[in-house]
Amino acid sequence: MGWYEDDDLWVGFAEVMFPPRRAAEAERLVATSPLLEVAPGDRVLDLACGPATHIVPLARRGAVVTGVDLSEAMLARARVACTAAEVEARLVRADMREHVERAAYDLVINMYTSFGYFTDPGENLAVLRNAHASLVPGGRLLVDVMGKEVFAGWVGRPQAVDVGGGTVFMRDTVLDDWTRLRSDWTWVRGDEVRRTSLYSTLYSAAELRALFEEVGFTDVECFGDFDCSPYDNHARRLIVRGTRA
Ligand SMILES: C[S@@+](CC[C@H](N)C(=O)[O-])C[C@H]1O[C@@H](n2cnc3c(N)ncnc32)[C@H](O)[C@@H]1O
Repeated sequence: MGWYEDDDLWVGFAEVMFPPRRAAEAERLVATSPLLEVAPGDRVLDLACGPATHIVPLARRGAVVTGVDLSEAMLARARVACTAAEVEARLVRADMREHVERAAYDLVINMYTSFGYFTDPGENLAVLRNAHASLVPGGRLLVDVMGKEVFAGWVGRPQAVDVGGGTVFMRDTVLDDWTRLRSDWTWVRGDEVRRTSLYSTLYSAAELRALFEEVGFTDVECFGDFDCSPYDNHARRLIVRGTRA
């Protein structure tokens, strides 16, 4: 089983990854970011949607949203969030390495470092290929990750974050000549200790851009934040956008 298939991770650490402030932040981004701008009726696919963090604000703006996630537990949370927000969305349990709906979407998004999970580079490429095939001509893919250059600015500094009456200690280790990252999280709450490790591929902007181009995206652009600022020394994220010709 791949680490990303473990529901104990996504559910067990949900309070850390998906606190209420992230839903509020997604609401703000969808309202203000030119990268997430949608018109009523636009068809949007959220690949690895988690608990509907971005589905809810996109659907509120009139987009027709499909969320895909491998975790049934995350989809259950997504259903609850959509019901609570009184929005409709189609939620599908599928693996992003396999999920394709030919020419069905105007926008495909993959948010919050949900890309690069697979050790085999061909499997990560398959995700981009599927997204490309799922877009209409002129449609766009947006991938939001922690870029290698951004990460290099703070790697090696362990973090301690207070969450849910406990503290999560996070420590990152760079693997395989800066191609992969392991994040070890230990959550200490009273007598309870919970541990997990997350793995992801570390992409530089040039590397991720090259993958977009390899699967056929055109007009590929890299941004350093959702306000479309450049991917430079001030970047906070690596956001890559490409268009299906
Ligand atoms: C870091 S969370 C991000 C969730 C959401 N995009 C957000 O911004 O809150 C990553 C999500 O990827 C999902 N996931 C992991 N592997 C997957 C796969 N192979 N196919 C589809 N979803 C997957 C997990 O279940 C989890 O919900």
